[in-house]
Amino acid sequence: MTLPPTHRCDRTPAWQALREHFDRSGRSFDLRQAFASDARRFDHWSQQAPHVFADLSKNLIDGHAEALLLELARQCGLEAWRDAMFAGQPINLTEQRQAMHFLLRRPRSQAAAGQPWARELAAVHETLEAMLAYAEQVRGDASITDVVNIGIGGSDLGPCMAVRALDGLRLPGKRFHFVSNVDGHELEGLLKTLQARSTLFLVASKTFTTAETMTNAHSARRWFEAQLGAQAKSLLPMHFVALTTNVKAAAQFGIATTFGFWDWVGGRYSLMSAIGLPLAISIGTQAWRAFLAGAHAMDEHFRCAPLARNLPIRLGLLDVWYRNFHGFSSRCIAPYHSLLSRWPAYLQQLEMESNGKRVDRSGAALPFETSPVIWGEPGTNGQHAFFQMLHQGTGITPVEFVVVRQPEHHLPGHHHKLLAHALAQAQALMVGRVDPGGHRHFPGNRPSTVLVLDRLDAASLGALIALHEHRVLTSGAIWGLNSFDQWGVELGKVLAADLEPRLDSGDVSGLDASTAGLLARLRP
Ligand code: F6P
Repeated sequence: MTLPPTHRCDRTPAWQALREHFDRSGRSFDLRQAFASDARRFDHWSQQAPHVFADLSKNLIDGHAEALLLELARQCGLEAWRDAMFAGQPINLTEQRQAMHFLLRRPRSQAAAGQPWARELAAVHETLEAMLAYAEQVRGDASITDVVNIGIGGSDLGPCMAVRALDGLRLPGKRFHFVSNVDGHELEGLLKTLQARSTLFLVASKTFTTAETMTNAHSARRWFEAQLGAQAKSLLPMHFVALTTNVKAAAQFGIATTFGFWDWVGGRYSLMSAIGLPLAISIGTQAWRAFLAGAHAMDEHFRCAPLARNLPIRLGLLDVWYRNFHGFSSRCIAPYHSLLSRWPAYLQQLEMESNGKRVDRSGAALPFETSPVIWGEPGTNGQHAFFQMLHQGTGITPVEFVVVRQPEHHLPGHHHKLLAHALAQAQALMVGRVDPGGHRHFPGNRPSTVLVLDRLDAASLGALIALHEHRVLTSGAIWGLNSFDQWGVELGKVLAADLEPRLDSGDVSGLDASTAGLLARLRP
């Protein structure tokens, strides 16, 4: 099977037509007028996808722009790249790997003979059953009170976000901790609160070579040995588990129990592999299966829904419209749900590590912008911090609200206040307020999207995650990127390995003057 061709999006007729449309009317598009002249704007620009309802109506876009964006998607071969992913083609060209995270949530019954990935699906389910059996064993073991996940990037952000998001389903009597930073304050502060006998360490690393994770894992093991003395050796296998593709390195570390995954699962796409073990322990088998089913439903929507009603595609195309035509350089993520507090950080890696690239699949430099900056905080906290800038700053930042119809708490009055604030912010961004005095003037016409979940449960979280994975594939495919590698993280790692011994020796030879000066200043 050959991969689809890469089309430079800015050389397509659709891009040219979008540019003309933007210059003609897109730039001056006014949301207030759009709603005044189209009583059905909400109906047209909102849609139900599996577990997620989306209101796109308060975005700076009209039907003609969307039609042209859909044409752009066709001219850039989006469907062909999507289908290549689902067919298990090696769309991660620079690493010659497939991107088959969708298999992690595909039901076993769909292992139809003849599918190129049938063998991989069987392996997925074998590991899944072993992992869920282990999760149930830990859930039933009252002697384990604390589960510590040691991992970073995709081996931290996903499970950390999801365990918190589904805290309402957490098994009572177990606490979950996430240590990612090599900054010893993080691990040392946590260890002070733990007892070795009642702690389970999950060393999560796709490669099992990441410096931060290995340093933290070695320190955790030293602490464990110091706490338990002569008994440590026999107890260690019960208290350290590895989640990795590098089973050999985990064994060399001295870990007997390993749940594996595969190089065709990217780190930031790995939450539904063994990397999700902390979540499986927290919520149990039934909810974990619902989590996978929610993601699978969104996979099927992305794979099969017509482009014009395909939510990941509509969102990804809107992202292209904002980045390349309106020129918006960031997107603010505002989940109005405290349990989604790590959602912005999770999306940061998913989107910026996937699409923060300056060359196309062949390595040719691109003359247009790619990933926006993704940032945010839960509401209503954000309102008392940076929303001032969103309403009255000189630039425009599209905001993406996530709201949930039913809360997980029982305190009267809170939830309607929370929802009212979310709706009010989106409304205020759009309608603005005229005040000739200046300081109280809100220009309005500022775009936002509202994603609505009925409840923040396992299925809706799974669907929300898959929605964003596919949205990132969509914008990445339009830009002609390989969304599945991350060469930009390499250089810093190499330079840090060179600088670390210099902090001991004081050797600054060959360094630039700034790095040399700072290194000398930071030595003890
Ligand atoms: O930051 C680079 C990166 O490779 C991420 O892509 C990845 O999620 C993270 O490091 C952690 O890698 P690993 O799971 O191999 O420890």
